[in-house]
Amino acid sequence: MPLDPVAALMLDEAGAVEGRVLVVDDAGGALTRAAADAGAEVLTWCDDLRQMSEVPPEHRILALPRGWVPDLVLWRLPRAVSAVEHYAEHLAPRVAPGARIIAGGRIKHMTPAQNTALARQFTEVSASLGRQKSRVLRASAPRPRPPRWPQRRYLREIGLTVIAHGSVFATNRLDDGTRLLVRTLARVAGEPDAAASRGVALDLGSGSGILAAWLAQRNWATQAIDVTASAVASTRLTARANGVQVATRRGDGLTGVAAESVDLLVSNPPFHVGGAKDSTPTLRMIEQAGPVLRPGGELWLVFNAHLPYLPLLRKHVGITTIEAQDRHYLVTRSLKDPG
Ligand SMILES: C[S@@+](CC[C@H](N)C(=O)[O-])C[C@H]1O[C@@H](n2cnc3c(N)ncnc32)[C@H](O)[C@@H]1O
Repeated sequence: MPLDPVAALMLDEAGAVEGRVLVVDDAGGALTRAAADAGAEVLTWCDDLRQMSEVPPEHRILALPRGWVPDLVLWRLPRAVSAVEHYAEHLAPRVAPGARIIAGGRIKHMTPAQNTALARQFTEVSASLGRQKSRVLRASAPRPRPPRWPQRRYLREIGLTVIAHGSVFATNRLDDGTRLLVRTLARVAGEPDAAASRGVALDLGSGSGILAAWLAQRNWATQAIDVTASAVASTRLTARANGVQVATRRGDGLTGVAAESVDLLVSNPPFHVGGAKDSTPTLRMIEQAGPVLRPGGELWLVFNAHLPYLPLLRKHVGITTIEAQDRHYLVTRSLKDPG
């Protein structure tokens, strides 16, 4: 498979690919394959389960093995500065003193603030020239500083503490869409610390875990699924910080969720895959929602009003009403036929 421009530039900038090479967030698996073909000892870690599944299995890791110290890191740079900071905090204490970090991205997704975030953890940081709309940041000479992530925040307006890693959607803030969904759900989700269990709720794409922890506070038996490891870890931290139980899992959509097992499915669904706008995962989630809901179960979604989800919700779940709307978002409630 030909290399995309970012990967090609990264490999040119890396020079000799030898010794122990750690590949991070290897969309498509091309960097892993190229480094292995060059004869390096390659291990690959991806936050996103879908990216990990594209990496040849023998190179996949869930964490760096003890004593395995990379000489070279090939890293697809995330867009958010908080994510760059979070990754740099993990890399700096784990690489060899002479290690080189080669972080590549599309120029349109890069800002000088990413260099600053790297420079907190590495003494030497420089940028390559641009080529085919791509650029590489080089970092070396690690100087690990105390990590800033995960970060905690008390969200007074919804009475919840959120703890999030830097690579998670909205980090520890309350996204506008999530705020509208919580306010609207409050009409039906019950009071905090309700005595009787309300049934099974599932937060799909849980991010920092705001929705999951909020539902668990209201005595829903709550599950949370997200496709990234950092979101699952953040959801666990948020649940613990609020003293509630949430069963978390890294998963792609609703794959593996038992049929007719969920009473209340909620989501502020993804509108990006990597850097690009893409509704495909959400369309799949809507298709999968009907079968996992119990008869009479409900799907609550918040999404940008221009997205064409309403007819699909009616087709794949059932009667769908708009429960709230503001300048940007719709909150919808879809009812599975009670049978
Ligand atoms: C818009 S964010 C919402 C996060 C959180 N629920 C909130 O309201 O702040 C969407 C989340 O969906 C996750 N996601 C994206 N694709 C997914 C998939 N196929 N399966 C599960 N989760 C996914 C993302 O990692 C992200 O955390």
